[in-house]
Amino acid sequence: MKILILGSGGREFSIARAILNENESHELFFQPGNGATTTLGMNLNIKDYNDLANYAKENSIELTIVGPEGPLVDGVVDIFKSHGLVIFGPSKEAAQLEGSKVYMKNFLAKYNIPTARYIETDSIEDAFKFTNTLNAPIVVKADGLCGGKGVIIAQSHDEAKVAISEMLSGKSFGDAGLKVIIEEFLDGYELSMFAVCDGQDYILLPAAQDHKKLLDGDKGPNTGGMGAYAPTPLVDEKLYQKVRERIIRPTLDGMKNENAPFEGVLFIGIMVVNGEPITLEFNVRFGDPECEILMPLMTSSVSDMFYKAATKRLGEIKVEFSSQFAVGVVMASENYPYKNSIPAEIIVDEVHHEEIEKYTHISYAGVSMEDEKLYADGGRVLVCVGLGDSIKEARDRAYMRCGQVHFAGKKLRTDIAYQALL
Ligand code: AMP
Ligand code: GLY
Repeated sequence: MKILILGSGGREFSIARAILNENESHELFFQPGNGATTTLGMNLNIKDYNDLANYAKENSIELTIVGPEGPLVDGVVDIFKSHGLVIFGPSKEAAQLEGSKVYMKNFLAKYNIPTARYIETDSIEDAFKFTNTLNAPIVVKADGLCGGKGVIIAQSHDEAKVAISEMLSGKSFGDAGLKVIIEEFLDGYELSMFAVCDGQDYILLPAAQDHKKLLDGDKGPNTGGMGAYAPTPLVDEKLYQKVRERIIRPTLDGMKNENAPFEGVLFIGIMVVNGEPITLEFNVRFGDPECEILMPLMTSSVSDMFYKAATKRLGEIKVEFSSQFAVGVVMASENYPYKNSIPAEIIVDEVHHEEIEKYTHISYAGVSMEDEKLYADGGRVLVCVGLGDSIKEARDRAYMRCGQVHFAGKKLRTDIAYQALL
């Protein structure tokens, strides 16, 4: 099958890798891809979505998979569908579940889906008033997309009020912060759950845990995610059931009721508080680096799952997962997440060790290729993934692989999956 993948990260690399692993004869295209996706398919440079849809038609592309939220919020799915193309992802309207935190919070409230107590407002007086009813820490969120940086966990009421004033004045996040959400702080452990949806039916993937902070022990600034593992033993069948009944089913039914049936990946950020799953947020795409560890755990056809989801036929298939665990360790560049780093050549040692060869791989993200040399030129550069019969084994293998990757300024956490190994 000819498949187009939108995006340029490790997430998109891992989807492509899984598709080629199931069948090498698939032909892949990336818009725009990265310096390593050229080893898996062809990188395009067509920014306009109508032009891209025309290219897809002319080249008989049968399926398009959208990785990041940007194109979804911009309506790429609606445009491709208007050209009669098959594309996996939510419509512009449904993508508001991620694109607007206010839309998401109002949706959760309307359909009684558990979430933190909150208000949404553009009035500084109302925001301050609500803040005074909460105990610190207090969570302040900008409404629009801020590349994952629009959430401030204020440690005091004063800090919360400064954050609110800066958002509402447009100072900290521009237009994205002109409406804010103030919410109670949820104290528990965090999970990433992913449901592949076709508007009506869905497939729930094994629960994962991300590591959002830059440094070991969950210290330092927030990042896009420094590593992930799955399945996590922090979830049992009872918790999966609660997530299904209290969050996913009412979300799919609610979105149908809103005339915006949800097709695509529903990424539920969950905080488990005293055994109860509370929705922190929705995203409308796979997490990165969670995707990099979920794709290798799928033993049934990945392309078929996306195709069936995009054609409303998920009910026809059975998706299967490996009994193994996967751990992914992100290697980031020197100045991540603050600013760009000088591109550094990446040297990957040749693999001679059978265990590393068989149970590890690399998903490339922020890399460029020049004269057949690979350079680290993005924030998160690559993810070393290890598979194993236990989390510990998978983690040890992922770190073995990390030891074989070299570039100036490389940064990584050394404690990925620690919550499962306590
Ligand atoms: P978000 O952009 O909404 O995913 O928030 C980013 C991160 O902030 C989440 O992954 C959580 O770690 C944290 N966070 C967001 N909302 C809350 C909350 N109400 N209570 C505790 N932590 C939160
Ligand atoms: N890893 C979290 C995210 O992709 O938003």
